[in-house]
Amino acid sequence: MNMDYIENRLKECLSEERFKHTLGCAHCAIELAKMYGLDEQKAFLAGLLHDCAKCKPNDELLKIIKEELKDVDEGELQNYKTLHAPVGAYFAKTIYGIEDKEIIDAIRCHTIGKVNMNLFEKIIFLADKIESYTRDKNYSDEIKKILTDNPGEKGLDMALLRCFSETIHSLVRRELKICKTTIDVYNELLDKVKNI
Ligand SMILES: [Fe+2]
Ligand SMILES: [Fe+2]
Repeated sequence: MNMDYIENRLKECLSEERFKHTLGCAHCAIELAKMYGLDEQKAFLAGLLHDCAKCKPNDELLKIIKEELKDVDEGELQNYKTLHAPVGAYFAKTIYGIEDKEIIDAIRCHTIGKVNMNLFEKIIFLADKIESYTRDKNYSDEIKKILTDNPGEKGLDMALLRCFSETIHSLVRRELKICKTTIDVYNELLDKVKNI
């Protein structure tokens, strides 16, 4: 699939701010792919497409999940903000013609994460959180410092742990439900980082 076609289509489907975030995520994904020796072109594509379903109305997302997708459990349905991840993975395949499983899987898990994420999934998850075009600079700098101070996968796990910790705090503060996967990933990262 032609890259210009993908960018133009995304520009039409997303709000201006979301499109800016998308470009930020794609460029940050390249940087992280370089740092960890991963395929930069693939990272760019995953970053570009990660929020491709983000601007669809919730009822449309729910309809697609109900009719087409089997891998969305009740916990994930509790927060509408996360529904664009499974649908985004579906759109990447069916609308944007992406066949690479690694790209599809990274889009699929970019909101709530998943236990035992691979390196590629981890960098896309982080790129979404720390891209410099729209995300808070202090937070991004803090995460980037964790990565540069701690080379290798352990640094990635430490950075992810910081992100999941922040997400859980924020959900608790707003009295929102926390899905089981988010807690499982947090516990897994804690074990890895603390070497329990
Ligand atoms: Fe997203
Ligand atoms: Fe995003």
